[in-house]
Amino acid sequence: MGLDLSKFERKRYTQGKTPIEYLANLTEIIGGPEIYLKHDDLLGLAGGGNKTRKLEFLVADAQSRGADTLITCGALQSNHCRLTLAAARKEGMHAVLVLSEIVSGSYKKDAGGNNYLYRLMSPLDILVVPGTCDLNIAMQERAETLRNEGYKPYIIPMGGSNALGCLGYIACAEEIVEQSSDLGIEFSHVITPTGSCGTHTGLLMGFRGLRTKTQVIGISVNNPRDNHIRRIAQLAQKVNNELFPKRNILIENDDIIVFDDYIGPGYSLPTEGLKEAVQLLARREAILLDPVYTGKAMAGLIDLIRKGLFKKSDKVLFLHTGGSPALYHYSDYTL
Ligand SMILES: Cc1ncc(COP(=O)(O)O)c(C=O)c1O
Repeated sequence: MGLDLSKFERKRYTQGKTPIEYLANLTEIIGGPEIYLKHDDLLGLAGGGNKTRKLEFLVADAQSRGADTLITCGALQSNHCRLTLAAARKEGMHAVLVLSEIVSGSYKKDAGGNNYLYRLMSPLDILVVPGTCDLNIAMQERAETLRNEGYKPYIIPMGGSNALGCLGYIACAEEIVEQSSDLGIEFSHVITPTGSCGTHTGLLMGFRGLRTKTQVIGISVNNPRDNHIRRIAQLAQKVNNELFPKRNILIENDDIIVFDDYIGPGYSLPTEGLKEAVQLLARREAILLDPVYTGKAMAGLIDLIRKGLFKKSDKVLFLHTGGSPALYHYSDYTL
């Protein structure tokens, strides 16, 4: 039996399950295991993406505490900020976005991609802070100001990656297991981009909670492997302690698989592998990856297949976590 998610309040932002598509052309071109793709880019809310699943639990919690304003943070082109804002608007709530300007002077009010969508959905406020600023402190200070103005703010951490946010991907792992049984396909591996680690942690806990052996492989888009392993182990412990104190899902460190070879010069900076992956998927599978997360994760998968990590008989499921609005901002990365 999996983890009991029914005891948590939850909003529903997606109709049914996201489809799993067999990538016949890519499988043939790369010549390794069978490659499938789970379309979490088709999740609900404006433009969809992995944060939609986390927000189902986070927004329900915010509302049960009487909040009327969601505050969150991210990079300038943050999918998480876009989707938190989208959830807020759908719920008749306000949102405040705290954006980290990692490269000084790079914020442009009228930039495209996710930034355009922020403006379209109209947050209460966008606060741009220097890359050196502690975003948690910036959010807490903003919450204090909002409280003084009569709002009821609720802070969602970076990437929605706290214990409650992980529930979204525990639910996704359970969805994959159901689909796998319906399709008669046993996935040997699930590949996901790994950033703030909630997606990776939730998937791993969901599979182990169901005693499914599927390996979760995270492709880091930002931090060194060891940092991610530590963070995933800590998050899993929090999920156990805070949400399932009676049911400890043991996650061994050697079950946490992360590759950090595909980051390139840094977070959201292009690599040759990214360009190849985004072009290949667009031109041969009509699938739009994104230039920050799924493009690098797919570059990692292709390279790992070429290096012989997988058996020909393996069935690999690539998780498309969304993010394609950023393609239109970073078009020079992929052409
Ligand atoms: C499109 C996309 N994929 C993957 C991730 C990484 O997910 P996580 O932060 O849960 O590791 C993000 C995070 O913002 C994202 O926007």
